[in-house]
Amino acid sequence: MTISFEVTGNDTRSGARLGLLTTPHGTIKTPVFMPVGTQASVKTMTPEEVQEVGGTMILGNTYHLYLRPGHEIVAEAGGLHNFMNWPGPILTDSGGFQVFSLGPLRKITDQGVTFRSHIDGSEHFFSPEKAMEIQMALGADVVMAFDECAPYPCSYDEARAATERTTRWAERCLNRHDRKDQALFGIIQGGTYRDLRLKSASEITSLGFPGFGIGGLSVGEPKPVMYEVLDYLVPEMPWNKPRYLMGVGSPDCLLEGVSRGVDMFDCVLPTRIARNGTVFTRDGKLVVRNAEYARDFRPLDPDCDCYTCKNYSRAYIRHLIKANEVLGIRLTTLHNLRFVLRLMEDIRAAIANGDFVEYKDRFLQRFNAE
Ligand code: GUN
Ligand code: ZN
Repeated sequence: MTISFEVTGNDTRSGARLGLLTTPHGTIKTPVFMPVGTQASVKTMTPEEVQEVGGTMILGNTYHLYLRPGHEIVAEAGGLHNFMNWPGPILTDSGGFQVFSLGPLRKITDQGVTFRSHIDGSEHFFSPEKAMEIQMALGADVVMAFDECAPYPCSYDEARAATERTTRWAERCLNRHDRKDQALFGIIQGGTYRDLRLKSASEITSLGFPGFGIGGLSVGEPKPVMYEVLDYLVPEMPWNKPRYLMGVGSPDCLLEGVSRGVDMFDCVLPTRIARNGTVFTRDGKLVVRNAEYARDFRPLDPDCDCYTCKNYSRAYIRHLIKANEVLGIRLTTLHNLRFVLRLMEDIRAAIANGDFVEYKDRFLQRFNAE
């Protein structure tokens, strides 16, 4: 195994910890937020720009890259790193979650999932084995097991069936996966049912994966429900292996996740809301599209150190977005990525200094104030 994880520090007053994740494409600091590059691109950003704002590890999607351009083409390019010119670590999600999001376009059995492409309606089949083959071809540093994510809300029986299937599929993923330069992470499911979460944690961790995803959260449940699941689930996960909360990336959830012992996060939120004209500031979200910013010549966030905030005003960015100039969404994307990546840098510094709890309270008080 050429991937390793080391916990290098822990907060004595919360579950927060510091770590180093070493991959064939470098060592990164945790807790980490991974910008999402679904289709081998962090939308609107070059890899150099992602790195300039502090991005260290990014995420790609098996489902999208399999459909277009096809994993064979990515493999022929020498793998995802070469294909997209990203030199650092990459994690690919297994396709399970994306396929389940297709709703009526899919059919699930124990064998796998039959689904229709959102691009041209063609029919395809994913199994745990197929998800491993595609991810081995893509060549990310970390790949995810093929899981079944139950929706929210869902009945106990439904959540139990998805959780049990996820364990059976996890074993099949382990059997098929054989790239020694890639780490395969298991995924814990269980919905919002405590006994299912604990059963899933015990089954998935006993299979001996080098890291673990926490799936099935941030799927529509209230935030306090997610925090409660993390409260009882994370302590059941191995101390010395990375814990990855999948699909979570709002500033408040990052802080609450870190304080409960999560090491890795990914989310489309910062980049997606940037493209419809919403940005993060120390004082909460700001919809820069709104008319009230037409004559506001201040930066998006006066406390931000990003290229956008050093050079452009809210009024100018509002104008660009209203006029459909692509520069507008590039500038907001750059800012939002810097905002969450700097938050992670500040979180790591606070854990190291022993004042993470104070940092979290101070940040959230200002972020949530009206
Ligand atoms: N991304 C967000 N949630 C999930 C999940 O439950 N499973 C997978 N595979 N990816 C996710
Ligand atoms: Zn900024």
